[in-house]
Amino acid sequence: MKPTIRIGIIGMGGFASAHHHTIALLEDKHHVRLVCTCDPRADIFAGEQQTWRFAARGVRVFHDYRAMLEACHGELDLVIIPTPIQLHAEMHAAVTALGVPTYLEKPPTLDYAELERMIAADARARKASHVGFNFIVEKPRLALKQRLLDGEFGAIRGATLASLWPRPASYFARNDWAGRLLMDDRVVLDSCFGNAMAHFVHNLLFWTGGPELFTWAHIAAVRAELYRAHAIEGADTFFVEADTAAGITMRFALSHACSGAGSQCETVLCEKAVLRYTVGSSFEIRWADGRVEKTALDPFDALLENHLEYFRYLRGEISRPATTLADSRPFVVLNDLAHVSSGRISTIPASLVSPVRDEREQKDYLSVANITTVQENFLNRGEWPGEHGWGRVPGEVATPADLPRFHDVVRAMAGR
Ligand SMILES: NC(=O)c1ccc[n+]([C@@H]2O[C@H](COP(=O)([O-])OP(=O)(O)OC[C@H]3O[C@@H](n4cnc5c(N)ncnc54)[C@H](O)[C@@H]3O)[C@@H](O)[C@H]2O)c1
Repeated sequence: MKPTIRIGIIGMGGFASAHHHTIALLEDKHHVRLVCTCDPRADIFAGEQQTWRFAARGVRVFHDYRAMLEACHGELDLVIIPTPIQLHAEMHAAVTALGVPTYLEKPPTLDYAELERMIAADARARKASHVGFNFIVEKPRLALKQRLLDGEFGAIRGATLASLWPRPASYFARNDWAGRLLMDDRVVLDSCFGNAMAHFVHNLLFWTGGPELFTWAHIAAVRAELYRAHAIEGADTFFVEADTAAGITMRFALSHACSGAGSQCETVLCEKAVLRYTVGSSFEIRWADGRVEKTALDPFDALLENHLEYFRYLRGEISRPATTLADSRPFVVLNDLAHVSSGRISTIPASLVSPVRDEREQKDYLSVANITTVQENFLNRGEWPGEHGWGRVPGEVATPADLPRFHDVVRAMAGR
């Protein structure tokens, strides 16, 4: 019989509710026991508390996470932190100060300096924390990365990420931190790149990292143009080019300013083949000699699989979590240098932006004209939208030596 892992969850609504659902399922299978949870708005989740059978399971409920930790820390093997980004660091610090590791939702933070403090704080915990980037644990992804490392496809020549994820106006009003750059002088930087599609950005860094399997590429230089179509403080549309320390050029084109079906494709261009991986669908290997291998991906419950993998690590069955805080460095540095390089967030010309009403969903979207073509021109030919109709000067080249300018750049972007 495997030892039961005793858990606390900070938060009940938003994505925290998905964690409660998954942990309740796993508790039924005797993998875990939920000891306690908290939310300043715990009372409005009375219905959920019934659905999750807190009373029958003996779950203690608090309004403040500090009171929860004080009362329960001696009984906890793990605390899950699926709360707003700008609260992650203080919650992670409070939990790890007690020696307890965390399952911390992605992004761990979007402030490179804060990440360094979190990495140092994590060393106090009995085990390393896991950062919940969803897709690193996928078995087909790990197998394909191993084939890349073994040299089957030849050297990597480049990599691209194309992703469109339509978000209605209501998305940017979902909470008080949506689309924000700063709150109370704390870095938030909520965006398609830093938050909603952070998984895919982290995935591309994973493809280009080596020589070990669990390695993410180090960033040497970044150029970026950041835009917004929505009336938000931050950016909803990113064009980013980055060189890795190993000399691989990556390009990222991501946007929430679109409507209709979303799309996502991670592409790795190698000497002998082009790999295309679409999360939730399939991956394709297109060999230079004309052969094509296509593999469908099985249904994958990201949250369940990430928890099961992390529990294996906590029980000592595997040597590391799928993504540690230190593994998140390239992602956080890339996001920060994209802001430094862009220097400002430019408004997409109004003539290119149309409102789209989805009557079935009863939701309103903003859609940028020819966004797919603009993305393809950037990813495949390096054509920056600023010089091709979007009317802005290019971003400067930013390197890790420019990181100390990051906070001033963000404050200026936020008009502080
Ligand atoms: N892995 C994924 O697929 C996925 C999906 C969605 C969100 N997320 C991540 O989950 C995190 C939370 O995002 P969200 O959109 O659910 O945020 P949210 O604003 O809905 O907050 C989540 C919960 O935290 C609670 N909370 C806020 N302040 C708190 C405090 N001081 N103490 C305790 N609880 C507090 C809120 O009441 C809410 O119940 C983010 O890091 C986000 O990126 C991950």
